Amino acid sequence: MTIKGLNLFSNKFASSRSSLTCTYKCGNACFGECDNNSDNPYFGDMMSRRSALKAGSLTVLTVGGSAALAGLAPAAAAQSSLPGSSLPGSSGAGQGHTSAKGLQFGNVAPNKRDEVVVPAGYSQSVLIAWGDPVIEGAPEFDPENQTAAAAEQQFGYNNDFAGLLPHPTDAGRRVYVCSHEYTTEPHMHPDYDADNPTEEQVRIGWANHGLTILEVSTVAGSGDLKREFGPLNRRITATTPMKLVGPLAGSEYVKTSADPTGTTVLGTLNNCAGGITPWGTVLSGEENFDQYFAHSDSVTDPQVKASLDRLGIPRGESGRKWERFDRRFDVSREPNEVNRFGYIIEIDPYDPHSTPVKHTALGRFKHEAGNIHITKDGTVVCYSGDDARFEYLYKFVSSRKMVEGDLAHNMTLMDHGTLYVAVMEGNSPQHEIDGSGQLPSDGAFDGAGRWEPLLTVDNEGNATSHVAGFTAEQVAVFTREAADAVGATKMDRPEDVEVSPTTSKVYMALTNNKYRGAAEKSKEGVMEYAPVKENKNGLVMEIEDDHAGETFTWNLILVAGDPDVAYTYFGGFDKSLVSPISCPDNLAFDEFGNLWISTDGNALGSNDGLYVMDVETANRGELKCFLTVPYAAETCGPVINRERVLVAVQHPGETDDASVENPTSHWPDGGTSVPRRPS
Ligand code: FEO
Ligand code: CA
Ligand code: CA
Repeated sequence: MTIKGLNLFSNKFASSRSSLTCTYKCGNACFGECDNNSDNPYFGDMMSRRSALKAGSLTVLTVGGSAALAGLAPAAAAQSSLPGSSLPGSSGAGQGHTSAKGLQFGNVAPNKRDEVVVPAGYSQSVLIAWGDPVIEGAPEFDPENQTAAAAEQQFGYNNDFAGLLPHPTDAGRRVYVCSHEYTTEPHMHPDYDADNPTEEQVRIGWANHGLTILEVSTVAGSGDLKREFGPLNRRITATTPMKLVGPLAGSEYVKTSADPTGTTVLGTLNNCAGGITPWGTVLSGEENFDQYFAHSDSVTDPQVKASLDRLGIPRGESGRKWERFDRRFDVSREPNEVNRFGYIIEIDPYDPHSTPVKHTALGRFKHEAGNIHITKDGTVVCYSGDDARFEYLYKFVSSRKMVEGDLAHNMTLMDHGTLYVAVMEGNSPQHEIDGSGQLPSDGAFDGAGRWEPLLTVDNEGNATSHVAGFTAEQVAVFTREAADAVGATKMDRPEDVEVSPTTSKVYMALTNNKYRGAAEKSKEGVMEYAPVKENKNGLVMEIEDDHAGETFTWNLILVAGDPDVAYTYFGGFDKSLVSPISCPDNLAFDEFGNLWISTDGNALGSNDGLYVMDVETANRGELKCFLTVPYAAETCGPVINRERVLVAVQHPGETDDASVENPTSHWPDGGTSVPRRPS
């Protein structure tokens, strides 16, 4: 088998992921040059711009390559499965210390075991894995004889986002929704030749992307979920028709030979995390969509070329060679197709015949996810991070209000309003931010910020640019460059952004940025919002946002890493009582207001996991590990509720020395089994 990948292990900027994961998940973004070459202001410039800020407005204010792991409920007590005081080992990690509700379980220690490890008293089960039938009548998975026609009716590869919705008619069922971020062909097909994929292998790849909507039943007496066939079951793939809505619908930038009206796109790609809206739809972020396109070296228009380079579109062939079988993936032949990806998409999971939409008013970049907060007057605020080094945090504020029960209206809320990008600064002198992670003299990495408007679409659909030199359509399609122009703040890979349901504070995972302050690679030095030089383990930022307004304050509640290392910070909590954590990625809340954090690419030498952090009680900053995933897997999802924890176990065993015949993970069957699916 030919495996294309870069040897990352001799490089100090090497990712903690395998090179195979780098290649197939993000098109080697984790290894390659940083795409943001803008000269946005550094700290000194920021200080001089302070006077330009609005006066008085700075209020300082789950798996297989994929199987859903359900049923993390205490074996004996399904009704109290959210970690509670009735469980064994419930006194927390330290002597004489009592953890708050939601953290009362025995910590899972760092490990490299090839299994899902959960605390004593909890059970686990697998809900669904790659290839399992989703549509009634779909064939059982036959890994030796895969076809695209079968894959279009089966569970896709490498699921990331997980959502669990109420079932519309059956109280004993739920609706499970997940995204399938990417395919790893060398681990899907025996004897895969990366230089010469067959057309059927390429079509199987298309079918394994997208999302799954699946009816599941609850199991009495446990937190388990069981997959079911039902009328809501649906696969969305890289070829499912979608409607472009917002300011780019019908624009010259999105017209192609197959779609001269610029309104209908086939498919969605690299769907990473997502969100559930209060009106019952699903949002999904199109993240590393660049890697599927080819031959950007053919482009001569300087603005377009700069944009393609900024996104990292391959100059030659793409990794998966899709362009050989569908011209739309070849930028030299179909230059606008690439402009039709990189959006937040919205799906009505309750209508299997509905057409998903791509909301272009939310901008085009590597959307990690979209997550919504509704203000008291019904205004919708959607937060979204652009997951790449030195990229930005965005939010969209609707002009219309949510109307309870009016789905058609609510699905247009994100087409009218204003898109903003975050500009922030610290409140400590720059000389106190030395890159070591040492707290400044005021005792916190903290500061304030403002939301800089980029684009407004009014209630009639008229779009206005707020960025000099950009039309409204250009802001929507070249969003990173528009954000550069207003001085957006370069972050350490903004991942999931979630709003606390109990306090309305906003939390953002910043997964890592080894190029931060590194002499050879850096686009910016250490800053109070990114205070760790060559940041390997990531950060979590807490933001108090004037949600529909234009100002916020922020602080770093977590500087991740080994708590025994001086630079780490756990909200001020006693570091002798916390778990090591590295590379925070997806976030979720439990009903007590605790922040759950899944990790991607543990740089501390142990498996990724799911952690919970107390953010509001007297134990603020206490962090415990609830589970770890198998060898070389990433923890995704998660969904946390009283009955169960649901996580996605993405890319287990995805190492460079693995193959279909010789897997490096045997989960879930264990032993020396060759997993029927790379789960
Ligand atoms: Fe697909 Fe940003 O992780
Ligand atoms: Ca400070
Ligand atoms: Ca992610």
